[in-house]
Amino acid sequence: MELIVAVYEDWGIGREGTQPIALSADRKFFRQTTKGAMVIVGRRTLEDFPGKQPLPGRVNVALTRSEAEIPGFTFCHTPEEALALAQTADRAFVIGGGSVYLQLLPYCTRAYVTKVHCQPQSDTFFPNLDESPDWVLETILQSGEENGIPYEMCLYRRA
Ligand SMILES: NC(=O)c1ccc[n+]([C@@H]2O[C@H](COP(=O)([O-])OP(=O)(O)OC[C@H]3O[C@@H](n4cnc5c(N)ncnc54)[C@H](OP(=O)(O)O)[C@@H]3O)[C@@H](O)[C@H]2O)c1
Repeated sequence: MELIVAVYEDWGIGREGTQPIALSADRKFFRQTTKGAMVIVGRRTLEDFPGKQPLPGRVNVALTRSEAEIPGFTFCHTPEEALALAQTADRAFVIGGGSVYLQLLPYCTRAYVTKVHCQPQSDTFFPNLDESPDWVLETILQSGEENGIPYEMCLYRRA
């Protein structure tokens, strides 16, 4: 299993259920990277999807403790259930949010991390992989600047 996330300078990833700053270059990178794959998302994050619709061209798996049903999503009620589904896919990406990243990170072997070099206030954070002995930076896949904000797409792998 893999994961994909955009982090600010302090490894913040969101505030009040959304991303305070989102770059179109990162959205494009997300679409290209996850195209055709399974994506695993927490119920709070899917509330922030455009129209709360599943992401097109992907197998959408959502985690909830409730009995929610939304057409286009396969709902799981435990991380283990999501993990078992992920094992049936050629590629499966954990796409957030904070609580789902934390619970599924131990099962991920690769992490696509877009570093967005600004620091809006966040209430949700991702673990700092640069400070973790479990992860190494393999390569920087892309970099650039948008609206004066530098960014880079980094690929980490489990050490
Ligand atoms: N920067 C990025 O790349 C990125 C990506 C994604 C999200 N985000 C941000 O992350 C924030 C949301 O993160 P979050 O931690 O608040 O919410 P979340 O992880 O998206 O969703 C939490 C929900 O997932 C369900 N869930 C979590 N653990 C579960 C378990 N063990 N078993 C069953 N269901 C479980 C629960 O749903 P129920 O309440 O329905 O039971 C829980 O309320 C937002 O600010 C969003 O913008 C950032």
